Amino acid sequence: DWTPAHFVTDTINNLKAQIGDRKVIMALSGGVDSTVAATLIHRAIGDRLFGIFVDNGVLRKNEFQQVLDIYKKIGLNVKGVDAKELFYGQLAGKTDPEAKRKTIGKLFIDVFQDEAKKIEGVELLGQGTIYPDVIESVSVHGPSVTIKSHHNVGGLPDIMHLELVEPLRFLFKDEVRRVGKELGIPADLLNRHPFPGPGLAIRILGEITPEKVQLLQDADYRYVQGLKDHNLYDQVWQAGAILLPVKSVGVMGDERTYEFTVALRAVTSVDGMTADWAHLPYDFMAFISNDIINNVRGINRVVYDISSKPPATIEWE
Ligand code: XMP
Repeated sequence: DWTPAHFVTDTINNLKAQIGDRKVIMALSGGVDSTVAATLIHRAIGDRLFGIFVDNGVLRKNEFQQVLDIYKKIGLNVKGVDAKELFYGQLAGKTDPEAKRKTIGKLFIDVFQDEAKKIEGVELLGQGTIYPDVIESVSVHGPSVTIKSHHNVGGLPDIMHLELVEPLRFLFKDEVRRVGKELGIPADLLNRHPFPGPGLAIRILGEITPEKVQLLQDADYRYVQGLKDHNLYDQVWQAGAILLPVKSVGVMGDERTYEFTVALRAVTSVDGMTADWAHLPYDFMAFISNDIINNVRGINRVVYDISSKPPATIEWE
């Protein structure tokens, strides 16, 4: 019978056998899969696992520091690399969704390779690949793969010629979460919603500026916190705010305002391939729209996305 406890014991033994006394480098994202994979590898080889977590400037509010703190608590050997300015510089002026994705993917590889060079004699690359990723990458029908160039750390091995270490290769997401729990990884990390590799860059429609990133971070933070406070976070597959590239008129006191709109998106889904918009309670919608408009200066209008996938995608870009 498959149990998380058996899986952990067997996997650590297998990892020890595969890796021996060699070094492993791994890109961490703050997500469930990479964190669970890294924790297993760390249990097997300790600080011969070198984790790299890149701040690409389009993470969520406070996410870089919070995730690094969690890694520290777990005991992982992780280096945080602040590459915000590099990413903002290259993203400036780019409006096409695919151009934005490609820019972020390429810069990520550059930054990761620079870090890899600093570690002498690394021979292996750790990855949080799970079973659905394996199937998706070999199938031709996965719309999210064929239509969008997904940036995942999966693009790394071909160019780096490193041997792969993928301890979660045969697990489904729920099994990964159970293994994570067995390993003592904090529940708030294990229950985090999926978050795309290109981050908020594909939730700021059109051009990205540091000011827009901050605006969206603030709105998104209130939205996610609101969902948690109202016990709705765990009932949806994924939720996030999208900054629209339009301004509209509003009033505040005696003044007219001319500010941005955010769209809120929340979906239910089993695997992200299809999704339905979440029927969030009206009370919550009333609360969150006031909360965002009253507290995030620069946003004067909030709308809710009621589109299902297909034909709409979960992300707006
Ligand atoms: P869509 O928007 O295609 O998204 O319905 C399905 C799931 O994939 C995530 N997503 C991405 N993840 N890189 C990623 O790592 C990407 O470029 C990307 N685009 C979408 C999305 O957040 C959702 O969970």
